[in-house]
Amino acid sequence: MERGLILLAVTLMVFLAPGVHGTSHLTFDNTTEVNVTRAGCGTKKLCVETPDDCDPAKNNSCLFGSLQIMNTMAPNGSDLAVGLQGNSSGYVALGLAKDPSQGYTMVFVCGQNNSMFFFRTGQTNNSANSTAFMANERRVKDIRGLVNGSVIRCEFTVPSLNASSTKSVDHTFYVFLAIGDSATIGNINFILKAGRLNLADPASNIPTTTAPTTTQGMSGGAAFQPHAVLLLLGILICTAMQRV
Ligand SMILES: *[C@@H]1O[C@H](CO)[C@@H](O)[C@H](O)[C@H]1NC(C)=O
Ligand SMILES: *[C@@H]1O[C@H](CO)[C@@H](O)[C@H](O)[C@H]1NC(C)=O
Ligand SMILES: *[C@@H]1O[C@H](CO)[C@@H](O)[C@H](O)[C@H]1NC(C)=O
Ligand SMILES: *[C@@H]1O[C@H](CO)[C@@H](O)[C@H](O)[C@H]1NC(C)=O
Ligand SMILES: *[C@@H]1O[C@H](CO)[C@@H](O)[C@H](O)[C@H]1NC(C)=O
Ligand SMILES: *[C@@H]1O[C@H](CO)[C@@H](O)[C@H](O)[C@H]1NC(C)=O
Ligand SMILES: *[C@@H]1O[C@H](CO)[C@@H](O)[C@H](O)[C@H]1NC(C)=O
Ligand SMILES: *[C@@H]1O[C@H](CO)[C@@H](O)[C@H](O)[C@H]1NC(C)=O
Ligand SMILES: *[C@@H]1O[C@H](CO)[C@@H](O)[C@H](O)[C@H]1NC(C)=O
Ligand SMILES: *[C@@H]1O[C@H](CO)[C@@H](O)[C@H](O)[C@H]1NC(C)=O
Repeated sequence: MERGLILLAVTLMVFLAPGVHGTSHLTFDNTTEVNVTRAGCGTKKLCVETPDDCDPAKNNSCLFGSLQIMNTMAPNGSDLAVGLQGNSSGYVALGLAKDPSQGYTMVFVCGQNNSMFFFRTGQTNNSANSTAFMANERRVKDIRGLVNGSVIRCEFTVPSLNASSTKSVDHTFYVFLAIGDSATIGNINFILKAGRLNLADPASNIPTTTAPTTTQGMSGGAAFQPHAVLLLLGILICTAMQRV
């Protein structure tokens, strides 16, 4: 009798869990307006896209993501405001990983199922080198989505983001964007790997035009320096000669 009850309880839990938990970690915003633009890229928000400099407001073929850290408040971390756009009959996804060789990559999916917008959170297992999407309930709020033909556009906020378990503040993540051609999320194919970026620095993926640093060692950057010095010397000599 007792054993039967326990079995029944376990069975109920298994069947209820997906329905009960399914969306309670997600909060949708009723606003139908979804602004995914380049406005503020590099100054207010960090933007990643392919092809380079693609403008999602003008070009439906862009795969674009914008990330903006807001409301940093210890010990809860920061809010991350995200905008995503891509051309897909399935989904576009953002991946964030502290370390792509261990732990998990957080995955945020904006998708369409025959023009119906949907949002999911999940993760991939980095230590297993796996790209398989595993559902994982992470709190996400202010979700707005728009599907127009094959264009999926969405905005959302990830609260309480904190990459550090030791430092007072750390917003450094590896950033990935993916596209999937079906509403069924199987393996996540990250076609854009933006590298390790400080999400709090909107310009962290914009190459600086300052002198190459010593860490570049014998790379092309360092090789440029002798020419620059020669050029500068040349200008100085010319200027000096003109004065004589
Ligand atoms: C969304 O719309 C529904 C019904 O129109 C309303 O009851 C609800 O409060 C709205 N939610 C938000 C967050 O505005
Ligand atoms: C979208 O952008 C327009 C124009 O910049 C602005 O008026 C509107 O408030 C924005 N909507 C949202 C939901 O941010
Ligand atoms: C849109 O992007 C595609 C590449 O994905 C490019 O070939 C095309 O020229 C772009 N169109 C405009 C209007 O920028
Ligand atoms: C969107 O993707 C579909 C399917 O891959 C392709 O046929 C279409 O040309 C793409 N549209 C744009 C604007 O890139
Ligand atoms: C941190 O989060 C907890 C639990 O959600 C909340 O009660 C608290 O007010 C938050 N603190 C700050 C400073 O936002
Ligand atoms: C991030 O986490 C660390 C360690 O738990 C904590 O000391 C720090 O206050 C957190 N930072 C923010 C901005 O919440
Ligand atoms: C992730 O991969 C590691 C290494 O293969 C494994 O030990 C762990 O159980 C996996 N985690 C999940 C949730 O599957
Ligand atoms: C994961 O893949 C990388 C590169 O393909 C490889 O170097 C590494 O050994 C793999 N790790 C595991 C745990 O399979
Ligand atoms: C949907 O796309 C079409 C063609 O690109 C455009 O004319 C229309 O304004 C778009 N609708 C919305 C709601 O964005
Ligand atoms: C897509 O929508 C159909 C009809 O509502 C549903 O049967 C199907 O399970 C959905 N597919 C996914 C992957 O959510």
